[in-house]
Amino acid sequence: MKKLLILISGQGSNLEALMAARQAGDLPVDIVAVISNRPQAAGLEKAAAAGIETRVVKHTDYPEREQFDAALAAAIDAYAPDVIALAGFMRILTDGFVRRYEGRMINIHPSLLPSFPGLNTHQRALDEGVRIHGCTVHFVTPQLDHGPIIVQAAVQVRDDDDAQTLAVRVLQAEHRIYPLAVRWLAEGRLHREGQRVKINVPIREAAPLIVPVSG
Ligand code: GAR
Repeated sequence: MKKLLILISGQGSNLEALMAARQAGDLPVDIVAVISNRPQAAGLEKAAAAGIETRVVKHTDYPEREQFDAALAAAIDAYAPDVIALAGFMRILTDGFVRRYEGRMINIHPSLLPSFPGLNTHQRALDEGVRIHGCTVHFVTPQLDHGPIIVQAAVQVRDDDDAQTLAVRVLQAEHRIYPLAVRWLAEGRLHREGQRVKINVPIREAAPLIVPVSG
């Protein structure tokens, strides 16, 4: 079984979605550890309650980004993971760190990339008046939120939405697509061709790729 390691910074609802998929038999991986850069991240308790090993590597313990990334890499490498999933991990990573794990590290981002990289994606989507918003799972590359896209899900923006209501529906969509992307990577079904990703899955499995705009 392939080894999955998950990096978090906060509540860990995507982590929960990955654990639930694993529990349901939809994600045949061994979740070897959950590592957070914040000791108070609620996701740590959720992982521990599920019997998963947890570690904290506090970014505040390291004055330089390179030092933090070196400590994080050492913590990660102790588990020799095949796949690293960033699940609400809110740190900018150095090029060296990203290259070390390139091809096996993926991220979920709360917008339809390449629109709205960075922070405050829901408010920015509302400010721009877009009608379709959503989320993206992509390979992590040195350019922030610009790696090759694996899967996206769309969410309709309603007239009465604010950033919070929109965030709730986007999160629900995130929970649908992240386990899929992790499974495809663990099963070796993803093939990068430059900025594009080809997915080698049967038609019936690929259907969720076209996630209907949810109301
Ligand atoms: C999610 O919406 C995720 O897409 C976002 O943080 C949230 C974490 O929620 N990630 C980023 O913004 C990364 N740039 P979670 O802790 O409940 O999974």
